[in-house]
Amino acid sequence: TPTPIGVKPLMGFNNWARFTCAAQARLDGTRDGYSFQQFMQDQAKAMSDTGLVAAGYTNLTVDDCWMQRTSAGYLHGAAAWGGTSQPGFDWELTDYAAYLHGLGMQAGLYSTSGVNTCQGVPGGVMGHEQADANSLAYWGIDSIKLDNCGTDSTNRQGEFTTFANALNTATAGTGRKILFNESAPAGYGPASAEKYNTMDWVRTLGQMWRVSPDIAVWHPSTTSAWDWPHGGDYYEGGVYQNFTDAVALARYNAPGNANDADMLLIGDNNQLTLPEQRSQFALWSAMGSPLMISTDVRKMAADPVTYAPQLGILKNADIIAVDQDALGAGGYLASRGNASATAGIDVVVKPLAGGKRAVVVLNKNATATTYTLDLGRVGFSNLTCTRTARDLWSHTSTGVQGSITATIGAHDNAMYTIDPGSCGAAAPTGMIQSA
Ligand code: GLA
Repeated sequence: TPTPIGVKPLMGFNNWARFTCAAQARLDGTRDGYSFQQFMQDQAKAMSDTGLVAAGYTNLTVDDCWMQRTSAGYLHGAAAWGGTSQPGFDWELTDYAAYLHGLGMQAGLYSTSGVNTCQGVPGGVMGHEQADANSLAYWGIDSIKLDNCGTDSTNRQGEFTTFANALNTATAGTGRKILFNESAPAGYGPASAEKYNTMDWVRTLGQMWRVSPDIAVWHPSTTSAWDWPHGGDYYEGGVYQNFTDAVALARYNAPGNANDADMLLIGDNNQLTLPEQRSQFALWSAMGSPLMISTDVRKMAADPVTYAPQLGILKNADIIAVDQDALGAGGYLASRGNASATAGIDVVVKPLAGGKRAVVVLNKNATATTYTLDLGRVGFSNLTCTRTARDLWSHTSTGVQGSITATIGAHDNAMYTIDPGSCGAAAPTGMIQSA
């Protein structure tokens, strides 16, 4: 039996960060008749053709603007693609879900807890919770992302609970589950009381939740999606900001519970250099975040030679295994560069099944930096004993004692799994030192 959806961090594709609702106008303005549904199906086919489905990226989630609500109150596919005159989705989503299932994929949809979606489409579930959940189940939909827009949010817990119950009712007795992906925590700033309160209840309702701002693709041209900080409204963040917000919530990760740091900008996306793409992948996997690609996979399928480096990152089986590890732990910040010897270096540690540890050493500097990782700082003792360290980028294993020294390029990383062998397991996660 395959592992049920959502026990491990979700892997797949979401169109939002790269395309929003306006993909047609941006990319294919002259291709009349190219529907939103066909666009998503083409991304799905490309996911399959590139081997990304075989590598584990099986979910395909269409974000905002796919829907309309009829005058009779029913949810259906939108006739036109948001903001364009191009066709949208079929009235019923049944054929769409069947197409994805035929590729060995799962179909994910988007909605919101309120009346209007974040793009103003009157397709949110408020007042239609059970009917909408029944529609998803009838169509064969596998996952639903529920956003925070379209409500005054004084009763967010109640609204999300109502919809979680509706999903359970809709699938009761069928043996199927619909994964519930909750955006609720993302609405609150880091370390706020509302954030922690929300983290406590989302775990009881769903399998994954956005904990940080939208990965900023539409940033001012003077900065990059790597280090773009979220603004006062907590709306947009770069890779480094989202990592910082999510890693602080590591204790909420568990099997079936994943903090979502938002989408991967790996592939056709001009926002991140290749080292930065490697680092986003290493960090997201070390945090046990869902791995949802938001780049143009059609381009990678059409030219897999040019995109071999990006496909190589996304298909790195050693690093995917860290993300999907059975222990389901989050990644902890073991140190954040603040002393002269470690300036610009962050160390993230993820406990793995079998007493192993995954470690990412991130070089935030704009120049190459040589760093010595002290294994005592990531939870190991008995440091004269020889353990096996596997370099997850070169896929080579070596014996190491108390430390590992590496020279790491600008915004790049070193990533290892360390197997204690007979040297003694690592300390419990609570013993990881932080600086
Ligand atoms: C919010 C979410 C995004 C996306 C948009 C759609 O901003 O955080 O991930 O779903 O809404 O409008």
